[in-house]
Amino acid sequence: MRIEGATALVTGANRGLGKAFVEELLARGAAKVYATARDVSTVTDPRVTPLALDITDPESVAAAARAAADVDLLINNAGIATGASVLGDEEGLRREMETNFFGPVRVTRLFAPVLAANGGGAVVNMLSVLSWLALPTTGGYSAAKSAAWAATNAQRMSLAEQGTTVTAVHVGYLDTEMAAHVDGPKVAPDKLAAQVLDAVEAGEPEVLGDDRSRMVKAALSGDLRDLYGSLG
Ligand SMILES: NC(=O)c1ccc[n+]([C@@H]2O[C@H](COP(=O)([O-])OP(=O)(O)OC[C@H]3O[C@@H](n4cnc5c(N)ncnc54)[C@H](OP(=O)(O)O)[C@@H]3O)[C@@H](O)[C@H]2O)c1
Repeated sequence: MRIEGATALVTGANRGLGKAFVEELLARGAAKVYATARDVSTVTDPRVTPLALDITDPESVAAAARAAADVDLLINNAGIATGASVLGDEEGLRREMETNFFGPVRVTRLFAPVLAANGGGAVVNMLSVLSWLALPTTGGYSAAKSAAWAATNAQRMSLAEQGTTVTAVHVGYLDTEMAAHVDGPKVAPDKLAAQVLDAVEAGEPEVLGDDRSRMVKAALSGDLRDLYGSLG
């Protein structure tokens, strides 16, 4: 699909990668951008249409789908990384699943008829290299992103019937608040946003945003000890 003239909705658009998606959509001539946030007062850009949306709240998602009935590009960007361990308390794991799995799945389910009514359009799901790799400190996040990856693949097949493309995005670290504690190479959010929108325009099913995601995806076909051993 073409971004120029599109009507896009971005979740978690008030900061980080979501804000970079908004900038790139506007730069490419999107006709309208719903910049959604839990606290809508944090969206101050006069070029966008602010909309309240908490992806963990079914009522909030239903209200957004009613209010933004002209959307033809849905960007499921919002996410959290709590550090919850799979050996830790269940509450942390549930928080990860609510935001990183049930949230985006719910948003896509409620926006699917909107996309169909507007000609098909496209969905982008922000996943992670951690959909394919789990570390002690990312057990909950990895499990949720892995589940979201599976859901993304199922959505792609189901939504093809209504002409909606679905693009999965995997990347290592991004230079945002979520990875502020991390040293080492990070991808600039504006670079990834541009790469993702190129992929949407080309109808690509998957974006690998950095060397780390390319390396881990390739390593999955090898001996698991090589992949986890290489991590030190
Ligand atoms: N940063 C990385 O290294 C990295 C790497 C791979 C993938 N990702 C993924 O990329 C996406 C964007 O991450 P980021 O780096 O931009 O993170 P970020 O800077 O922490 O921003 C997260 C965004 O998600 C929003 N959000 C959290 N829970 C929400 C909810 N229940 N409903 C609506 N919005 C909610 C936040 O809103 P508030 O301002 O209200 O908190 C914020 O706008 C996420 O899906 C993340 O998992 C990030």
